[in-house]
Amino acid sequence: TGELNQLAKAKGKLYFGTATDNNELSDTAYTAILDDHNMFGQITPANSMKWDATEPSRGTFTFANGDVIANLAKSNGQLLRGHNCVWYNQLPSWVSSGGFNSATLTSIIQTHCSTLVGHYKGQVWDVVNEPFNDDGTWRSDVFYNTLGQSYVSIALQAARTADPNAKLYINEYNIEYAGAKATAMMNLVKSLKSSGVPLDGIGLQCHFIVGDVPTGLQSILQQFVALGVEVAITELDIRMTLPATNALLQQQEKDYQTVISACAAVEGCVGVTVWDFTDKYSWVPNTFSGQGEACPWDANLQKKPAYSGIVAGW
Ligand code: XIL
Repeated sequence: TGELNQLAKAKGKLYFGTATDNNELSDTAYTAILDDHNMFGQITPANSMKWDATEPSRGTFTFANGDVIANLAKSNGQLLRGHNCVWYNQLPSWVSSGGFNSATLTSIIQTHCSTLVGHYKGQVWDVVNEPFNDDGTWRSDVFYNTLGQSYVSIALQAARTADPNAKLYINEYNIEYAGAKATAMMNLVKSLKSSGVPLDGIGLQCHFIVGDVPTGLQSILQQFVALGVEVAITELDIRMTLPATNALLQQQEKDYQTVISACAAVEGCVGVTVWDFTDKYSWVPNTFSGQGEACPWDANLQKKPAYSGIVAGW
């Protein structure tokens, strides 16, 4: 009835989902919530399908942890978002240290993407993650520095060849509001589409701050959809400077509602994923010093006001 995935589906969306991670799955109080497909219709592995986890040395693929997540999704009746094929971060040093010529790196990208997408067939994939700097220029990483922007189409094409039915995404943050980075992404979508490169969707991560959710989110989602792609909110969390107060928790409730209503209002927005549902396992405190409590369930696995905000947003 009132659970989050059911509410999303009642609005015509494909899912409401969450990130999860292998080390969390022994927590039975946690999995009791995670495994409820009425609550979560989709899961994303937070780490276990990244390059360092799946191809730690060249040509040697390790799928054990990724398979645990994929099998869990299957047994729970949940969709899987594969995350991710090509990203500058969490790369094994054999890739990040570079030194490859363009033909060799092309082949390395093709092998990595086609092996992942071929292993987990019929899924959604973040094929490219975080290609841009905040000023809209290309991120200087081993892929861009060796191949220029062509690495994006190399990766997308390899993914499409490996699985004609996969949904292929580019995923990014700070494109949720008008500005140079959103414009750069829109220009990339236009250019890939006009050259016939396979691209199905744009993921907007939505790592937000309480009281600072972009008011133009719905309009941005609509602008991407107008370019002929679907969109998804892929990593939603809304952090605050600690300690939490009632006022901050109430603002957070409103902020969650704002984000969910933006997706609900845009037909091409297919679903929303939170970047884990509980403060117990959020990445935020480890990454943003002094900040936290970004999730809709607290560290004791109790629903926060933010949960009601999500309900109200649908
Ligand atoms: C994060 C994970 O949640 C952490 O456990 C890990 O230590 C670092 O990466 N954008 C992304 C995700 O696309 O892959 C990141 O996940 C969070 C930011």
